[in-house]
This record gives sequence, C-alpha cells and structure tokens, in this order.
Amino acid sequence: MERQAKQLVMALKPWETLLFPFLFFSVIAAGSHEDPTKRTMEEFSGYVFHPSHSIFSLPPVDKESLQNQIDELSTFSDTPAPSVTRILYTENDVLARRYIKGLMGQAGLSVHEDAVGNIFGRWNGSDPELGAVATGSHIDAIPYSGKYDGVVGVLGALEAINVLKRAGFQPKRSLEVILFTSEEPTRFGISCLGSRLLAGSEALVHVLKESVDDQNTSFFDAARSAGYAISQENLSNVMLKKGSYFAFLELHIEQGPLLEEEGVSIGIVTAIAAPASIKVEFEGNGGHAGAVLMPERNDAGLAAAELALAVEKHVLETGSVDTVGTVGIIVLHPGAINSIPSKSHVEIDTRDIDEKRRDAVIEKIHQSSIEVSRRRGVKLSEFRIVNQDPPAKSEHSIINAMEDVVQQLNLSHKLMISRAYHDSLFMARVSPMGMIFIPCYKGYSHKPEEYASIVDIANGVNVLALTLAKLSLD
Ligand code: GLV
Ligand code: MN
Ligand code: MN
Repeated sequence: MERQAKQLVMALKPWETLLFPFLFFSVIAAGSHEDPTKRTMEEFSGYVFHPSHSIFSLPPVDKESLQNQIDELSTFSDTPAPSVTRILYTENDVLARRYIKGLMGQAGLSVHEDAVGNIFGRWNGSDPELGAVATGSHIDAIPYSGKYDGVVGVLGALEAINVLKRAGFQPKRSLEVILFTSEEPTRFGISCLGSRLLAGSEALVHVLKESVDDQNTSFFDAARSAGYAISQENLSNVMLKKGSYFAFLELHIEQGPLLEEEGVSIGIVTAIAAPASIKVEFEGNGGHAGAVLMPERNDAGLAAAELALAVEKHVLETGSVDTVGTVGIIVLHPGAINSIPSKSHVEIDTRDIDEKRRDAVIEKIHQSSIEVSRRRGVKLSEFRIVNQDPPAKSEHSIINAMEDVVQQLNLSHKLMISRAYHDSLFMARVSPMGMIFIPCYKGYSHKPEEYASIVDIANGVNVLALTLAKLSLD
C-alpha cells in the first residue's frame, strides 16, 4: 500500500495534484508531516480538501449495478430480447426516460427537461456561474438494435458522477449529465434531433413544424403525447446560450472493430465523419402484374432499385474506404405482389470524413435520380437532402486531458475518428468537445448482437470520471 502510494505521488503531474486534491493530501498525510502544499492547493482550486479520502478509497465503478441498469433499461423495448427497439416518444421511450430521471435523482442531481425532452441532471459546482462540464448520449434505439449504443454514455455518465461523489470530490464547475432526445432518425427522419436543436439549428425549427411520422402523427402531437408541453413558439427556447458549457464529453461504444482487433482499451476520438441523408420518391402508373406488358410499364420500384445500385457505384467510385453509402429504406406502394409499384420511397445515408468528397457523391446521386426517372418514364416527385452536416473536430485540450487520464490509469489507447455520428457532432458547435470510445464485440452495432463487456465499460467510466473531474477544476 505504501509503495503504491509512493509510486502514485511520483506519477502525479501538477494538474493531477489539482485533480485529486483529496488524493494528494491523503497520500502525504499517510506520512507524519503536514502537507505544505495543502493551503496553496485549496486556494488555487477553490476546493476544500477532505483528509479522510485517499486514492485507495477512490471507489471502483460499481460494475454489477451498472450492468443491471443496462439490462433493466433494455427491457423497455418494442421488440423481444436480445433486440432493443425504442422509438422517440413511444410508451417504452417514456418509461425509459422515467427510469433515467429516477437514477439522476438517486445520484443527487437536479433534473430538468426542455420542450423536446432533452433531460439534464446537474451537480452544482462550487462556482456555479462558470460554464458547466457536460457529458451524455442517447437512449433511443433503432428497430432491432442492441442495448449499448448510446446507453453506455448515459448510464456510464451517471456512474462516473456516482464514482466522483463516492470519492468525496467537489467540482468547481458544475457537472451535468444530458440525455439527448432522438439521436436516431427513426421516427421523424431527423438524426440528433435534440442536440441539433440545442446547438441552435433554425432550419430544424422550420422542419419540425412540418414533420410527421409514417402514421401521419405530427412531431408536436407525438411530443405532447409523451408529456412535453411543446409549442411552435417554445421550440427556439431549447437552443443553448453561448458559453453554457465549458466542455462536452461523450462515452460511446466504438461501433467498429478496431479497438477489439488491436486489443486497445480506449479510443480517443479526434473527429466525427460528415453524415448526410436524402429522401427520394418516384411515381409511375402502377397496374396489374399480369396484364400490363413489360414495354408498357413505368415501374417506380425498379427506379428505386436502380437508384440503390447507383448509390453503391458512386460511393465505390471515390476509391476511398472512408466514403460509405447505404440505402436502408425502400418502401413500395401499394406493396402487393401482383401490383406494379406505382410509388417508391427511398432513403439514403452517405458519409465521409472528407466533406467535399461526400458532397460530390450526393450530387452524383441527384444526377442518377434524374437520369433513372427520365429513362424509366417515372416522375421524380421528390429529391430532398434531409441533412448534409459538416464533420466535427474534437478539442485538442480535451484530447490531451483524456490522454493524460488514460496514461494515469495505465490503459492502452489510440486516437481515432468516429465514422458513426453522435450528439457530440452537434455539441461541438456550441462547446469544446471530446469523445471516449470503448471496444465492442466484433464492432457489431445497430443489431441485437451488439455487446460491450462490463470491464471495458468500467474503463470508459473511469476515463470519463477523471476527465470530468479535471475539466471541472480548470
Ligand atoms: C448513429 O446512430 C449513426 O447512425 O451513426
Ligand atoms: Mn445508433
Ligand atoms: Mn449512438
């Protein structure tokens, strides 16, 4: 124990002694001398030391309870285990939100929600006027997905807060856990709805006024049915004031295979790739599958099929593995085996770390939509770019802080880009941002086989907790 303590003192850098004033003091106090730096440290950090706390009482992540929470949250699902389906403002989403609010309350956080249901749990710092340090993610889940995407960044954040509380840590800047509304675009076709709005997207305010789901329920009605007193007027109130946050951090499973393949514990994200999504509609005449001869047809379904193949072609033509494109939705109308599709609806997701190259692919997809519709004699009734977002860069100072923390924790790490988008993409518009990735089994995500071990999750929680603590004293 004593040797451990000595090694620890030697390993401490100046900021770390600030970060762990309780730790530093207790290590010194273990000897017979009064800590000469105690007063200075208190004055500098504004934080009163608690001599009773030591590194050895810095509590471990409560793995059992965290895993139980992940499992319990996964039961709020519209599809059977192991899949999870949790769609914005549905009953299971409301129940899951209630569950998280309960945990926020148990952690001693003061909870509030905005008009679209972003949920904030705040731990007031000793200087609450300073910009807070926030962390969080989402708990909505696309159809038939897994139980870790987003969830690790919400429940993990709450456990990080609990670890710091159990340690007796007192933040100077307030710490806040955020649950973002609808990171997934499932219900209204808009990704990162909550964080996009928080980041001040006026375009989104307009789009939401028109948005309906596939049952023709408006965004406003859906939000009201989930208990949110939303109106066209108070939408803009959701937007964050500049300087609200000093930093934003997000813990997330990698959703790719690299960390696991390379045996690395922590990924520190340097940038998030630029996502875009497009909706296309074709209209033809339809007709009887037996009676209308092939030369007479203008089949909207085949136009959709051709466009899907064109998307793949344009993406591959860039010659870069970083360009990706997916046609995840094709809906045919009327959807009968013996009826030629008279309408087709296609949704396309394309991304790249190079925004210009991604935009060139979007333009080619547009040209192909026009060409296919002309050649097949169907009408291109809609070509709508739903979102065309730029990439986001993590803040250097946050990357550095995370690197210091992982080294201190003796964890292996690598710098990497995020090919998936996250609420961090939008929080980066209003706050310095950084992301922590942990390995997940075979990189699986957006399917029921998604899995992250509780040991890897606990590593991520530790990195998050210590980075939050450090930044809260900055
Ligand atoms: C997030 O869910 C993404 O699709 O990247
Ligand atoms: Mn996802
Ligand atoms: Mn996610």
